[in-house]
Amino acid sequence: MSKPLRIGIVGCGAIGTSLAKIVVRDFKKKAQLTALYDIDEHKSRTLSRILSKKEKLQVQGLKALIAASDLVVEASSATAAFGIAQEVLKKGREVLIMSVGGVAGREKELAVLCRRREGRVYIPSGAICGIDALKAVKLSQLNNVTLITTKHPSSFKGVKYIQRKRIDLEKIKSDKLLFSGTAEQAVKFFPQNINVAGILSMAGLGKGKTTVKIIASPAAQRNIHEVRIESSAATIVTRAENLLHPDNPKTSYLAVLSAAAALKQIFEPIRIGT
Ligand SMILES: NC(=O)c1ccc[n+]([C@@H]2O[C@H](COP(=O)([O-])OP(=O)(O)OC[C@H]3O[C@@H](n4cnc5c(N)ncnc54)[C@H](O)[C@@H]3O)[C@@H](O)[C@H]2O)c1
Repeated sequence: MSKPLRIGIVGCGAIGTSLAKIVVRDFKKKAQLTALYDIDEHKSRTLSRILSKKEKLQVQGLKALIAASDLVVEASSATAAFGIAQEVLKKGREVLIMSVGGVAGREKELAVLCRRREGRVYIPSGAICGIDALKAVKLSQLNNVTLITTKHPSSFKGVKYIQRKRIDLEKIKSDKLLFSGTAEQAVKFFPQNINVAGILSMAGLGKGKTTVKIIASPAAQRNIHEVRIESSAATIVTRAENLLHPDNPKTSYLAVLSAAAALKQIFEPIRIGT
């Protein structure tokens, strides 16, 4: 039997905590959680205590975490993501990136780093569907990729773009298009959409050519992401109606499960889907 994959997690917030619990609970035959690191020491210490009474999973820095891991899960922030991936790949390890907004558009640099030391980067599909088909039809002529995100108006409270446009969220009584533009612009104005737009851009036409529309709907009880793909092989329309994670109301349940499924796929001898 091959040795369990040593997994280290950087960022012990909502996503890092959920994934750490899944690794310990569901993947114990195939993987071992070996290290946790957070710039906020209190968070990594607390999670380490919850998950392991005897072992100390908390480490003091990224270097120590990489040394203890075959695969690093990045669940920190968009600003830190590329630097973390860079350090992991320089050591010839693998990295699963959650803060996709921090690496979207930098695929070539990551690929160069991967080739140098046989590293690998995994980017889960997150809270959207259709990445499998998008990857396939990209091999034909891919003409158009659009993400339509619909959320309750209250989800946009505090967004500076909304304040600048003087949109009164409380007065929205029917579906209102808040934004239509490129993924590149969307992630600037709506940072909470940064990951879905980033994943779609990386898999498809890039940030400059992927269209994003953002709708505020008083009827929306879930965060809805629709993806429309037009290509010479097929027209594809997908829709994910996302519930929040039962333990972490800050994040979509599907985003966490998608990362867990991406990890699971690494151990499986049979790969299903593109
Ligand atoms: N890909 C997806 O589908 C998806 C979905 C939701 C969130 N995300 C992204 O995943 C990341 C984590 O999300 P979250 O909800 O867990 O956030 P969070 O704020 O709950 O947790 C982030 C943690 O990372 C720590 N951190 C920040 N910078 C760090 C650094 N340089 N080194 C070590 N630790 C650092 C913080 O102290 C915090 O504890 C975010 O970037 C978020 O945008 C991705």
